[in-house]
Amino acid sequence: MKKMLEVRKDFSLKAYNTFGIEAKCKYFVEAEDEGELAEFVAGYEWNPLEVLVLGGGSNFLFTGDFEGTVFYPAMQGIEVVEEDVESVSVRVGAGVVWDDFVAWTVAQGYGGVENLSLIPGHVGAAPVQNVGAYGMEAGETIAEVEAIDLEKGGRVRIAAGECRFAYRDSAFKREWKNRFIITRVVFRLAKHPQFRLDYGSVRSEVERLGGEVTLAKVREAVIRIREAKLPDVKVLPSAGSYFKNPVVAQELAERLESQYPGMPVYPLGEGRCKLAAGWLIEQCGWKGKTLGRAGVYEKQALVLVNRGGADGTDISRLANEIRKSVFLRFGVWIEPEVNVV
Ligand code: EPU
Repeated sequence: MKKMLEVRKDFSLKAYNTFGIEAKCKYFVEAEDEGELAEFVAGYEWNPLEVLVLGGGSNFLFTGDFEGTVFYPAMQGIEVVEEDVESVSVRVGAGVVWDDFVAWTVAQGYGGVENLSLIPGHVGAAPVQNVGAYGMEAGETIAEVEAIDLEKGGRVRIAAGECRFAYRDSAFKREWKNRFIITRVVFRLAKHPQFRLDYGSVRSEVERLGGEVTLAKVREAVIRIREAKLPDVKVLPSAGSYFKNPVVAQELAERLESQYPGMPVYPLGEGRCKLAAGWLIEQCGWKGKTLGRAGVYEKQALVLVNRGGADGTDISRLANEIRKSVFLRFGVWIEPEVNVV
């Protein structure tokens, strides 16, 4: 049985953001059925500043109460909708826990998202953020996004080609910000997986597991790497990487590289390079540091954590100090990956 649409007033979001920060929203609308949600928002006076769509809340920092409506799409279900010899199309509810979906694909033997194991959050957030890790991005396997259009009303289907997927980015974060409530995502997965083992220690971790490479082993390897480096949000609240890795001109990257031999640089072509924000932050001495109730995780400097009872301003104050010191030392502004509300 699907849960009926529910609207709550002055609702606490503490359990709905992985930083565990206390903040309230004016209205909280939870829906498991997209038809019901579409009906609810028909005639809704859309104002992008008064809308927020929340999935697992693993990419938000609330610095105060939100005086608008939070939509919490809770659509469930994983169904195969199309199949041929090479691939399979799978339609997944926005409210499905991302890693439950990944575990399902691996159990079925479908390739394409296994390197994205253990990423927190819900499936509905994957296209917004174009979640990525260990050399794979969700945008590569997304075929279509189903959504409710708050601006024009009604249900729509958006082809992947229109979503403008890029590194931790898509049209949903830019020109379409707060316009669509994503309800389902269709993924196109491979029946004969092409393993991607070239990022960091993925290959060596898979080899340590021994025998033939399988989806299950890649998943296990990624889980081990993540567990060793990233905090469990149930124990130490955080939002994963707080900052994006900065993309800079190749000239600047080369200049820094000659000044700091061993600095990680990832050439992107067209005269641009990505730098490792975690490395830059660590060089500035922030790794493991605490400022008030906010801290920098000891094993991965890109991750800011709530050391207990922090509010959004504790975290953003620390983030600003870090940004400043990285700029003063390297001449590079790093930008938050999380949505600061
Ligand atoms: N590094 C340091 N010190 C640190 C952290 C990293 O020197 O404290 C160096 C590493 O040694 C390595 C390089 O920086 O040479 C890159 O580090 P890592 O492979 O750990 O990845 P990352 O660039 O720091 C990104 C994603 C992560 C994702 C990993 C693996 C972003 C913003 N973050 O981190 O995503 O899991 O790659 O693919 O792109 C997230 O988005 O929440 C997240 C955890």
